[in-house]
Amino acid sequence: MIRIDKISLRYGSALILDDISLSIPRGGITALIGPNGAGKSSLLSLIARLQPLQSGSITVEDLPVDRTSGRDLAKIIAILRQDLAATARLRVRELVGFGRFPHSRGRLTPEDRSIVDRAIQQFGLADLSERFLDTLSGGQRQRAFVAMAFAQETDYLLLDEPLNNLDMYHARALMRSLRAIADQHGKTIVIVLHDINHAASHADRIIALKDGRIAADGAPSEILRPDVLASIFGYEMRVETIDGIPVALHFR
Ligand SMILES: Nc1ncnc2c1ncn2[C@@H]1O[C@H](COP(=O)(O)OP(=O)(O)O)[C@@H](O)[C@H]1O
Ligand SMILES: [Mg+2]
Repeated sequence: MIRIDKISLRYGSALILDDISLSIPRGGITALIGPNGAGKSSLLSLIARLQPLQSGSITVEDLPVDRTSGRDLAKIIAILRQDLAATARLRVRELVGFGRFPHSRGRLTPEDRSIVDRAIQQFGLADLSERFLDTLSGGQRQRAFVAMAFAQETDYLLLDEPLNNLDMYHARALMRSLRAIADQHGKTIVIVLHDINHAASHADRIIALKDGRIAADGAPSEILRPDVLASIFGYEMRVETIDGIPVALHFR
C-alpha cells in the first residue's frame, strides 16, 4: 500500500501540489492522467523520494519514504523518470543490469544475470542487448529504461510516461506486459499516461490530476465520461463503449 497524506509542494510561490491525500492498495495498475503541468511527475518523484517532502507524509508498505534508506527503498520501489538522460557509451544489457544495483551493488551474480536476461526478453530487447544506447531510436531506448526498472524486481513500479516515443505495436506490447506483471506477480504499478484509451483499456483505476489537485478518481468507466473528461481536459469528447471498454474520441 502506498499512503499519501496531505502532501503539498511549492516551487517558490507556486503551489504545485495542493493537499493531496490518497492511497493505492497492493496489486493492479493505477493510471495517473491530467494536463501538462498538473503535477503528475512531481507526485511520482515525491513517492520515490527523488525530491524531499515539504509537508505531509508518504509511506510505502508502512515505510516512511523520508526516513528509509535509499537502498531499502530501491528494493521495494522502482521509478522510471520522464526525463531520461541518454547515457552515451552504455550498452542496453549494462543499463538493464543497473536495475540490480540495489541488490548486488554492481557485482552481478548468476541470478542477477538471469533476471537481466528475463527483462531483456520481456521487453523485446534481445536483438538490441549489445547495442549502445546512443545508437537506439527514442522508443528502443525508452524500452531499455523500462526493462531496467523491471529488473529491479520491486513490488512497486512507478512509470512516468513510459509510452513516450513508442509506436502503436510497442505501446500495446508494453501495456500488455505490465498487465501480465500485475496479474501474475501481484505487482503494484502506477503509470502516467497521456492516452486515456490506454488507461481505460489496461488500468484498474484512473486518478486525474489538475492544477495540483485530484480532479477525479475511479474505475475507467467512471472517468471516461464526457462531463468528467471535459472537467479535466477542458473540452468535450465523445465516449463509446466497445467490447466493454470505454473509448474516448479525443482527437476530433
Ligand atoms: N524544478 C522546478 N522548478 C519550478 N517549477 C517546477 C519545477 N519542476 C516542475 N515545476 C512546475 O511544476 C508544475 C508541475 O510539473 P510536473 O509535475 O512536471 O507536471 P506534469 O508531470 O503533470 O506535467 C509545472 O507547472 C512545472 O512547470
Ligand atoms: Mg510529467
